[in-house]
Amino acid sequence: MILTKSLGEFKKAFESLPDKESIGFVPTMGALHEGHLSLVQSARKKCRHVIVSVFVNPTQFNNKQDLATYPRTLDADAALLEKEGADILFAPQVEDIYPEEDTRIFDLGGLDKYGEGPRRPGHFNGVAQVVTRLFDIVRPKYAFFGEKDYQQLAIVKYFTKALGYDIEITGCPIVRESDGLAKSSRNTLLTPEQRLAAPHIYKTICKARELKHTLSPQQVIEKIKEEIDSNGLLETEYIEIVDGTDLKPVTKWSDSDNPRLWCAVYARPVRLIDNIAL
Ligand code: PAJ
Repeated sequence: MILTKSLGEFKKAFESLPDKESIGFVPTMGALHEGHLSLVQSARKKCRHVIVSVFVNPTQFNNKQDLATYPRTLDADAALLEKEGADILFAPQVEDIYPEEDTRIFDLGGLDKYGEGPRRPGHFNGVAQVVTRLFDIVRPKYAFFGEKDYQQLAIVKYFTKALGYDIEITGCPIVRESDGLAKSSRNTLLTPEQRLAAPHIYKTICKARELKHTLSPQQVIEKIKEEIDSNGLLETEYIEIVDGTDLKPVTKWSDSDNPRLWCAVYARPVRLIDNIAL
């Protein structure tokens, strides 16, 4: 694997790839875990070459503390990717990606109206800025994103198509710890007590699959919220039930044949997100 830490280094490594028609790309912000590695494995299966980026993108953080404390572990990331058989690790500097301020505003098809959109203003526009910039540099045929960030996956699919990129976007299932907690780089920021409490999120949201037979979507949301918050270390920011395709709120079960519950929960100051199909 070639580790490149600038655009110049990356371009040289890119030129050495013999089959540029079969590049699979996995964009990440690093602090890699098995969730990220599952995307690399999917890319490996489908493509001759696998390129992974590690870049903590400042334009998608609407919270300075979150950006400052985001874990950075490049040496460990490189070792993991080497083992997974990635061809190139692209770990650029901020000036490689943003030589000047990026003022582009993207049409996200209204998919940012609920969920993370209103709670993290500018977040998805920042994701679109960095992902399009990375697509232009890496020129992949395939790109891999996790359902962990379900709304992000839908938005990436949307703008990839709308902007005319010839890139196939593959969504990969959520990888969880054995206790059910969705793997996340932010899990390393939890105290031991918070780490013990965190699986309560997944355990509780799964109950919605039973509750939906007797309660309305709004009643399910209220019940799940109450139960998550009954754990003193957790505080629900939001729980929504949306259609898994158009991401619009489901107010009665007949609205959707593909309902999805998604949520953000604080184990302060860490913010955890999760989602399941219902
Ligand atoms: P990051 O949070 O590092 O995640 C990189 C990719 O790994 C995303 O597609 C995410 O959905 C996926 N992923 C994370 N945890 C996962 C898990 N437990 N199971 C399956 N997939 C998982 O998402 C980003 O970075 C950034 O927004 C990025 C797309 C790189 C743009 O900056």
